[in-house]
Amino acid sequence: GGADKIFETVIVGGGVAAGYAAREFVRLGAAKGAVAMISREAVYPYERPALSKGFIMNKAKVPGFNVCVGSGGENQGEQWYVENGIETYLSTSVTSIAFDSKTLTTDKAGTIGYKNLILAMGARPVTLTDMKMDDAAKLKGIYTLREVEDTQPLLDALIENKGKKALCVGGGYIGLECAAAMTVMGLHVTMVFPEPHVMQRLFTPEMAALYEEVYAQKGIKMIKGTVASGFVGDSNGKVKEAHLKNGEKVPCDVVVVGVGAKPNVELCQDKLDMEARAVKVNGRFQSSIPDVYAVGDLATFPNAFLGGVSSRVEHVDHARRSAMHCVNVILGKETSDYAYLPYFYSREFDLSWKFYGQQSNETLTVRDPGANHMAAFWMEGSTVVGAFVESGTAEEESMIQALARAKPTIDVAALKAAKTVADAFAV
Ligand code: FDA
Ligand code: NAD
Repeated sequence: GGADKIFETVIVGGGVAAGYAAREFVRLGAAKGAVAMISREAVYPYERPALSKGFIMNKAKVPGFNVCVGSGGENQGEQWYVENGIETYLSTSVTSIAFDSKTLTTDKAGTIGYKNLILAMGARPVTLTDMKMDDAAKLKGIYTLREVEDTQPLLDALIENKGKKALCVGGGYIGLECAAAMTVMGLHVTMVFPEPHVMQRLFTPEMAALYEEVYAQKGIKMIKGTVASGFVGDSNGKVKEAHLKNGEKVPCDVVVVGVGAKPNVELCQDKLDMEARAVKVNGRFQSSIPDVYAVGDLATFPNAFLGGVSSRVEHVDHARRSAMHCVNVILGKETSDYAYLPYFYSREFDLSWKFYGQQSNETLTVRDPGANHMAAFWMEGSTVVGAFVESGTAEEESMIQALARAKPTIDVAALKAAKTVADAFAV
């Protein structure tokens, strides 16, 4: 109905899920010209995790970390999309969706029709404006990071402010990764966050202690149990000081705000069923409207691996797998529900951790004396439901994955008696 062009499938978004969906269509032999991807980013889909690691340390650039290099796949650049007949619209925003007539309105490419629609708009950072700090939001020198477009100015600022002071607001993933990267870039870093220790989402106090020790050794200062309540600028409108709720004042030349993300649901929240601030889908990523799918950060899905527990995952491994599962459903190659073993990881300085499985209220942690080598196990009685390793060997990393998948019953007393990580894995 009146569309300038019609495609078999349109992918809205050009992030991780979109890039892996495109590859899966090609792998499964979708006809050239059948699939379109519309992204408001100016560049082809890339592995977003690299932004807060190599990219802000000036060690990696797009298109070097385009998908699918993060999982050992081919680097998909312009030529790949052209040769495989994925019609790509970059620097183009979808501005509205008419689900009845199956058409999208865009700002630069007119109206586009679809038979199947994959929503992969991801999430965006919570900003100072969201936190009702409108005046502070106008200051220069305060950054969030999500895309190349907002992370390049942060990188430029880090190069320009070498030797000066940086502040990370937030003690989660962005806070920890950026504090490390900014230290490597030669800035003096302070972190401020409301919780009693870093990475409250996953770490116990015992686990967090390792990271806090290493960060302290690197000269990073942590101010816990309070939040930034305002920022003061100089006469050029550039940030110079943060005011904290506890009354402290922290001088800063560069500020990174990492206080969480929120799904980009504006295009569809009034028309699709929603859950946990995201698009509610079934185990085949189908939303409440036929032929409309949602994947990645944008989707709340029942996880068959966890007996159908409603889940939303903001991590790259899920973005990749959910997108691939969804494409298989669309092409009639998959009829089963998505069964996802949760997998999260992070890297900072020489530290590197991986986590698989579920969290529970009971954890057992083992750390090698005087070293960063650490393992943790989430227990339900004597059953292991989740497992973690820091600075693990390749063998240990595959063991934690196998443990979380198999959920074995183990000898808890023996695990409690373990003095080293190797002892623990021997149990
Ligand atoms: P993603 O955000 O990747 O893509 C959404 C896309 O949609 C973007 O291209 C956006 O521009 C586009 N879009 C939105 N609205 C649009 C519109 N109206 N029209 C057109 N386009 C539109 N995870 C992990 O497991 N390990 C890690 O180390 C990291 N590290 C990491 C670092 C940083 C800095 C961030 C921000 C995030 C991570 N993550 C991570 C999380 C991971 O990157 C994230 O879960 C995935 O990128 C989610 O993939 P999606 O495709 O769902 O969204
Ligand atoms: P997060 O949820 O990991 O951490 C948010 C942090 O914000 C909390 O830990 C808390 O300390 C802090 N906070 C909340 N309210 C605050 C306030 N008023 N003032 C100060 N601090 C406050 O979110 P994030 O670190 O911003 O990450 C954004 C997104 O990017 C998430 O989806 C995350 O999963 C993703 N990401 C993932 C990785 C990874 O998996 N390695 C790395 C980077 C980013």
